[in-house]
Amino acid sequence: DISYFSFDLGEVSRQTPELISSMFKELSKGFEDRSLKPMEHKVFSIRESASAFRYMAQAKHIGKIVISTQDIPLIRADAAYLITGGMGALGLKVAEWMVDEGARNLVLMGRKSPSDETARIIEQLSDSGAQITVANGDVSSESDMKAIFEKIQPSLKGIIHAAGVLDDAMIPDQTPERFEQVMMPKVAGAWNLHQLTEDKDLDFFVMFSSAASIIGNSGQSNYAAANAFLDALAHFRHNKGLPATSINWGHWADIGMAASQRNRGSRLEGQGIRGIKTENGLAILKKILYEKPVQICVLDIDWQTYLSSIPVQTAFFSQLVRTEEIRQPEIIDKLRQTAIEQRSGILLEVIREFAGKVMGYEASLQVNVREPLMDQGFDSLMAVELRNRLSQIIGKTLPVSLLFDYPTLEKIRDFILIEVLDMNEDRQIKVEEK
Ligand SMILES: NC(=O)c1ccc[n+]([C@@H]2O[C@H](COP(=O)([O-])OP(=O)(O)OC[C@H]3O[C@@H](n4cnc5c(N)ncnc54)[C@H](OP(=O)(O)O)[C@@H]3O)[C@@H](O)[C@H]2O)c1
Repeated sequence: DISYFSFDLGEVSRQTPELISSMFKELSKGFEDRSLKPMEHKVFSIRESASAFRYMAQAKHIGKIVISTQDIPLIRADAAYLITGGMGALGLKVAEWMVDEGARNLVLMGRKSPSDETARIIEQLSDSGAQITVANGDVSSESDMKAIFEKIQPSLKGIIHAAGVLDDAMIPDQTPERFEQVMMPKVAGAWNLHQLTEDKDLDFFVMFSSAASIIGNSGQSNYAAANAFLDALAHFRHNKGLPATSINWGHWADIGMAASQRNRGSRLEGQGIRGIKTENGLAILKKILYEKPVQICVLDIDWQTYLSSIPVQTAFFSQLVRTEEIRQPEIIDKLRQTAIEQRSGILLEVIREFAGKVMGYEASLQVNVREPLMDQGFDSLMAVELRNRLSQIIGKTLPVSLLFDYPTLEKIRDFILIEVLDMNEDRQIKVEEK
């Protein structure tokens, strides 16, 4: 006795997203432990599409028929490709990867001449048979870009826009100049590339954006805004029928602007964001070039840890993790269950551990509890991060000026215990005396 029911999966996921989420979790577990197997499928190259349809019409198939574009070379030997920021860390890695994939004409552009190490890599690439042109110029200058495009030979088929600079600072320390220098390569630069290639028949126009424009990052207001422009430009170009992809990369673990910043990796790890290994980043780039999404975020993140580390959860995040799954503060219970005279010691240890993590210290190194944090190497970004993490663990929003008003760990501890949690010894004793 078999019954058939028809339903619209799209409608189900709109009406009961939690059902779809729990089904996905269950299915992923099944695929991981191999109790579930993907459906049978037969793959045809896109060149054999006619045969694929014939095969389907003859009803010879079991499961799915897949038409694959993967055997069409992404990168052509008879075309040229431009990489802006091509002598930077990611740009150069992409150049090496493209040569491996068969590129024979690459133009690497940047404002400065290549360093000795970069020149050595470029020489190696040239020795392997590729023509590598170093083009000096500023991507935000229309005349520089016009001159570069005029010289590109053979015909340009793809662009990787990887030029960018960082100038992180909290908003009070931002200036129009600092904002401008971060915006220029991304905004004016991407716009120049767009305008000057509108009439060219490109296979790809890929912009290296950042996860900062999706989930934000302390001290990166200028960088988030600059990358948001790339994201918007991708959609604008797509609507015009032009190739466009904006990749919101998380931080690359071993190379590039994030890896070179002190403590950046360990700070982000503490927020549940792991770095992207170079080989994984390049494999993902290849997949993206095949699939051509308009915008895609590549982020290795544990959402629960991340959401526990930020003070405010927006509606955007509520779509990703159910609020009841976000870990609730345990420290409050622990303090309540502890004898009053031991509370300050316990809280101080917790605060000290977090301060150490924010500073990227090894477990064996301890932050001094009496010396002002700023004298121990804390900067304003770290101050905000510590305040955010402490707000999260105690479940209360602490003032933005926490570290300025209470510069040492002991002072922060006393403020939290007395003013915020109302759990100090004196008060308790007075209540008991009454
Ligand atoms: N590394 C990461 O973890 C990460 C994560 C997310 C997104 N991204 C994005 O990926 C791209 C590459 O990052 P990266 O880590 O490779 O940085 P990088 O090593 O600093 O390289 C960036 C390159 O851009 C060039 N550049 C900057 N301004 C320019 C301008 N106005 N005109 C032409 N070239 C310019 C710089 O060379 P000159 O100074 O010589 O001009 C530099 O070589 C950036 O756009 C970045 O925002 C990186």
